[in-house]
Amino acid sequence: MTQAELVVVANRLPVDRVIDADGEPTWRRSPGGLVTALEPVMRRADGAWVGWPGQSDIEVEPFEFEGTYLVPVTLSAEDVELYYEGMSNDTIWPLYHDVIAEPRYRRVWWDSYVKVNRRFAEAAAAAAAPGATVWVQDYQLQLVPKMLREARPDLIIGYFHHIPFPAYGLYSQLPWRRQMLEGLLGADVIGFQRVADAGNFARAVRRQLRYGTKATGITVPNGDGTTRNVLARAFPISIDSASYVELARRPEIRARAAEIRSDLGNPRKILLGVDRLDYTKGIRHRLKAYSELLEDGAISVEDVTLVQVASPSRERVEAYVQLRDEIELSVGRVNGDFDTMGHTAVRYLHQAFPREEMVALFLAADVMLVTALRDGMNLVAKEYVAARADNRGVLVLSEFAGAADELSSAVRINPHDIDGMKEAIMRAIEMPAAEQGRRMRALRRKVLENDVARWSESFLAALGSAGTANRAIRADA
Ligand code: G6P
Repeated sequence: MTQAELVVVANRLPVDRVIDADGEPTWRRSPGGLVTALEPVMRRADGAWVGWPGQSDIEVEPFEFEGTYLVPVTLSAEDVELYYEGMSNDTIWPLYHDVIAEPRYRRVWWDSYVKVNRRFAEAAAAAAAPGATVWVQDYQLQLVPKMLREARPDLIIGYFHHIPFPAYGLYSQLPWRRQMLEGLLGADVIGFQRVADAGNFARAVRRQLRYGTKATGITVPNGDGTTRNVLARAFPISIDSASYVELARRPEIRARAAEIRSDLGNPRKILLGVDRLDYTKGIRHRLKAYSELLEDGAISVEDVTLVQVASPSRERVEAYVQLRDEIELSVGRVNGDFDTMGHTAVRYLHQAFPREEMVALFLAADVMLVTALRDGMNLVAKEYVAARADNRGVLVLSEFAGAADELSSAVRINPHDIDGMKEAIMRAIEMPAAEQGRRMRALRRKVLENDVARWSESFLAALGSAGTANRAIRADA
């Protein structure tokens, strides 16, 4: 097996398994921004990517795909149930998103999480060349850094946390709170979305492990009298902004945007929500605000339509099943109360769309609603901004989304405050073109400058220095 100088370890591989025209299974690049961001880096470094192919019990040998060596990790149906749906998405996900849904703590889920994290760590250890850099991604794999360090002390290890890290009062509920922190501290650099996330993490480390923390550095004992310095700080993730600009300029996509508007009956204003169907996204709060505006007579369905794309997600986890029922009940009610023969209040699409169609929707939408109750970053907010090369449109953005730290020229909302959200929506609907332009230009400067390539470069640069410094400490010992 070939060994790589750079190994990415993520729960999912950057490809989806699909069936081709001849009925044969094959691989298709999955659309995520992380994949696009890392592609050039991976190509240059002859990189390897360790991850799950997305379906249970698939056993495939490592293979080359568009310049990256892919190393599939097999998950059995039971692993998917206990490690992925259970511990990852029914314990960690709700706990780390401020307990919006109640986390469930099950010991069998934890046992499976440890076992599967070990499998990822072993696959990464086997794929990494001597002295290589390994970059672990996200909350499904928080134990991997420590497991890897134990197996391969020669490696430089980074970890990026894509979701929030909760305040200590909530984090301390976790029955395995110490093990999780120790797992993460196996890394040389731990990246977070917001400064506040890094602060919450450092506080948890101080309270639980009593390690010293200073600004963004954490002093971690090696067990032999020496210490390592772990860097824990914010590296806000972004998107491949230029590709959205390019798509937004294409004539066929602009034509499609006009077609969408006319299909919707050419309302004066189109509001848009685009989310994975997840309880963290505040979709119910958004529907409540919108339906109250209709009820109050502040807007009418001929005047304003809401398009809500809610892509299917984690459909076997109970909280998601319930959420879908609630949302679909609300949408049915609003439409039943307010639709006319020619106009709909909410056009609800429980589907995933290709990027081209998403950009057309962004261009068709006068107001983008990002109303998350808690969100690591929210890349949709950045995608909308990047696509609006015409400097039009209004972003309404929850202060509980990581993106709010950078996108200060958006119309900010607290999604729990329904009256405040209604006012913000009205303000966005009525905003004069000059103010839209001024805000959008400021937003675009941020998103175009801080794109995902810059994010990965700055993380890897920090990781290179921190890893080399820690290595020098070890060599001296
Ligand atoms: C969030 C997480 C990712 C995850 C994605 C989709 O963005 O941070 O790690 O891959 O949701 O969720 P899924 O469970 O389908 O991988």
